[in-house]
Amino acid sequence: MSYAWWQRGVVYQIYPRSFSDANTDGTGDLRGILARLDYCASLGVDALWLSPIFPSPMADFGYDISDYTNIDPVFGTLGLFDELVAEVRKRGLKLILDFVPNHTSDRHPWFRQARRSRNDPKRNWYLWHDPAAGGGPPNNWLSNFGGSAWEFDEPTGQYYYHAFLKEQPDLNWRNPEVCAALHDVLRFWMRRGVDGFRVDVLWHLIKDDLWRDNPPNPDYRPGQNPLHSQIPLYTTDRPEVQEVVAALRRVTDEFADRILIGEIYLPVERLVAYYGVNLEGVQLPFNFQLLQAPWNARGIAQLIDEYEGKLPSGGWPNWVLGNHDRARIASRVGIDQARVAAMLLLTLRGTPTLYYGDEIGMSNVPIPTDRIQDPFEKRVPGLGLGRDPCRTPMQWDASANAGFSAAQPWLPVSDDYSVVNVQSEDADPESILTLYRRLLALRRAHPALSVGIYEPVATTGHLLAYVREESPERFFVALNFGEDPYELSLETLAGAGRIILSTYLDRDDDPVTSVGLRANEGVIMRLTDRRS
Ligand code: NOJ
Repeated sequence: MSYAWWQRGVVYQIYPRSFSDANTDGTGDLRGILARLDYCASLGVDALWLSPIFPSPMADFGYDISDYTNIDPVFGTLGLFDELVAEVRKRGLKLILDFVPNHTSDRHPWFRQARRSRNDPKRNWYLWHDPAAGGGPPNNWLSNFGGSAWEFDEPTGQYYYHAFLKEQPDLNWRNPEVCAALHDVLRFWMRRGVDGFRVDVLWHLIKDDLWRDNPPNPDYRPGQNPLHSQIPLYTTDRPEVQEVVAALRRVTDEFADRILIGEIYLPVERLVAYYGVNLEGVQLPFNFQLLQAPWNARGIAQLIDEYEGKLPSGGWPNWVLGNHDRARIASRVGIDQARVAAMLLLTLRGTPTLYYGDEIGMSNVPIPTDRIQDPFEKRVPGLGLGRDPCRTPMQWDASANAGFSAAQPWLPVSDDYSVVNVQSEDADPESILTLYRRLLALRRAHPALSVGIYEPVATTGHLLAYVREESPERFFVALNFGEDPYELSLETLAGAGRIILSTYLDRDDDPVTSVGLRANEGVIMRLTDRRS
């Protein structure tokens, strides 16, 4: 069977503001990424996904785009981007860009024009509505970043809808002109050599055309994200979005070998709809379950089985452990379990996505109040929703500012940087970075670990175990999510196996018929004898 590059491959997410700053303004840039490409290649990942690098007033750090077909001067120029594409290519890597179709910046020329008058030809590119009968917003829809999702536009006397900040007005995807313009954006970047797109909030693109109120959420408790006080029945995951998704896919299919990855936070039953009934949707609807699930072996075993069971025929799985919106894995589960998580991520069936810095065990960084950047934290303070802690500068070495920049970085560098950094972990045969490199190398060398079938192995307690198989190879993965040691017999599996990797990086055993797992240890064994 043959597989596409994005099925075998591993995606590495770079948050460009925080990766590497070459022009010493305290913010990462394309030249910085260029300088670190050898590092990326040396990790053994296959594709780099860059969070937005387009011109933007940075109200939401690039997720508010004012020009879809250029590069923000903070990051560089189109010429530099072309250089990056060439250098990425030279190293045999792929490049994925962030595509933000749901909303533009309020400074985008389209929106500036739309708000000029109710009759402007661009008016219907956005979502406008008269005030409610008694005045005030047209309905109860909430912004993801707090408060009403409607902003009153004084000069024209109407409200516009913004699912995020008021500086991020939502585009009207029911308007064919909007579809055509955004399709051309995809073509523009594909012609420049981009291999695919991660599509921002894909499940948001279509809203109810009757503007019905969202129902209250009976499970909502005070102190939770106020957004969840409602069920977003009429603002997200509308049936008509599927055709919008299929149309995007038709555009990327005009070019060979391109990929669409959809950012979709939905329960699995709904998530899988984004593959499309006949796989005409996105190739990879992002599977965020590992970002949100409680970290316990039983729950995770169950969610893997359910996910595998619900995938449509031919739908390719994928797994995400970290991103720029959620707490870092090392902070969620602790640094010992972060190693187990790495082994899980890189031995599951399907395409894994790694978040920059997780490979060296970076943690969430506490942000002093006067250094807060994230508009979400500023608008909904004190609930721990802010995303700055997981967006801090990459820790390259023990020099000032962790080698990220010679200037003061836009977000503080973690206190642990003199120990947790690429340079010192590179030299340490037992570091988490070494573990990531070994895992990535094994995954590359053995298709059983990427594309092979997944067979759960019945276990109890804090143990998660499974077999990955692609003839003629078979691997057994056993992950201890707890502190108690386990003794596992291989009798029912194969008879014997050989440990080829432990998360402790200190064993490489002769064939054994049983294996002892220490606290927080994961192992990969190559099974040496087939079941009779
Ligand atoms: C999802 C992105 O991941 C997040 O960072 C951003 O704030 C929102 N979409 C709005 O674009």
